[in-house]
Amino acid sequence: MVDLDLKGKRVLIREDLNVPVSDGVVTSDARIRAALPTIQAVVDAGAAVMLMSHLGRPTEGQPENIFSLQPVASRLAELLGRDVPLVRNWIDGVDVTPGEVVLLENVRFLAGEKVNDEPLARKMAALCDVFVMDAFGTAHRTHASTYGVAEYAPIACAGPLLSAELDALGKALTNPARPMVAVVGGSKVSTKLTVLEALAEVVDTLIVGGGIANTFIAAAGQNVGKSLHEANMLDIARDLAANDDDRADIPVPTDVVVATDFSADAKASNKSVDAVLDDELILDIGPETAERFAEILAGAGTIIWNGPVGVFEFEAFANGTRVLAKAIAASPGFSVAGGGDTLAAIDKYGVAEHISYISTGGGAFLEFVEGKTLPAVEVLTRRATGL
Ligand code: 3PG
Ligand code: MG
Repeated sequence: MVDLDLKGKRVLIREDLNVPVSDGVVTSDARIRAALPTIQAVVDAGAAVMLMSHLGRPTEGQPENIFSLQPVASRLAELLGRDVPLVRNWIDGVDVTPGEVVLLENVRFLAGEKVNDEPLARKMAALCDVFVMDAFGTAHRTHASTYGVAEYAPIACAGPLLSAELDALGKALTNPARPMVAVVGGSKVSTKLTVLEALAEVVDTLIVGGGIANTFIAAAGQNVGKSLHEANMLDIARDLAANDDDRADIPVPTDVVVATDFSADAKASNKSVDAVLDDELILDIGPETAERFAEILAGAGTIIWNGPVGVFEFEAFANGTRVLAKAIAASPGFSVAGGGDTLAAIDKYGVAEHISYISTGGGAFLEFVEGKTLPAVEVLTRRATGL
């Protein structure tokens, strides 16, 4: 992008502004702040700026207010010190003049986004003179707004944030110091379990939390009650957990924090992992497990962290994530952390300064660690080399 003259051009920028929102307010704006230098540079160059992003995982074709980007538009306006109108109906044309910035409503409201529908991608491409892919956090998705649009836009290029992430992670992960420990948690179980198979070949120890840990607990034959887990992935989990010297160790939680409902005021109790009842949900790793995991992190040469290990937004279930965040910060090893909820946890526990590199990517960063070529990078490379 920095090589192009953008004056007077219509520039469509794909950012990853998928941030946590609660009651219409952005609760962690790390991803928004990471995108600011790119946006500011394009405005300063005299372009008409259209920003495109997803938020959450709405059902396509069914716009719902809870997934609106309005809170992001408001926060962006504050940070940029200028108006950032949200454009709700934009796919057939956007009114924007040079020097203006508009945010296009959640791209996942459009049917065809996630299957990279060609007519949809062509419409996106028709909105602009230049398409800038800057959403490192979504670079692992082959969607219309991350991939197809880059095939059809008159010019498609990488943005500064995407380039910087690729450079920094590439440097950090070339010849990593051992032992290499990954912490993978969060709620996106089905997509991350497959990533774990590849990660298990790369790292020495794989610490799992959240719904992923629950899947391993269930795979070991324990009752997980009503906990979030992936019932049709028990075989994969069992296979990964099986002792294999070439693959990462996967220590499973021995104690957990449970409740009978998912809410901030739910009554939490600590129990052994084999004592979970049918009407209970596992919402955090237990204190004993957290200490054991913290010790593993203290001895790590390199740490990769993606995803909280419990529902840290609720105080009663925050201990595991807090203990691990502090352990990662205190570890002398080189630490790389990323992902929407992970950034929120880093903010909450004030450990940003003690993490060696913080990425805006979650799943994308895990796939990068696996050594995969990210689809968005592949298409941009193809466009740039004319192949
Ligand atoms: C993320 O938060 O990991 C990215 O924004 C991608 O979101 P997705 O996993 O819903 O595609
Ligand atoms: Mg995420």
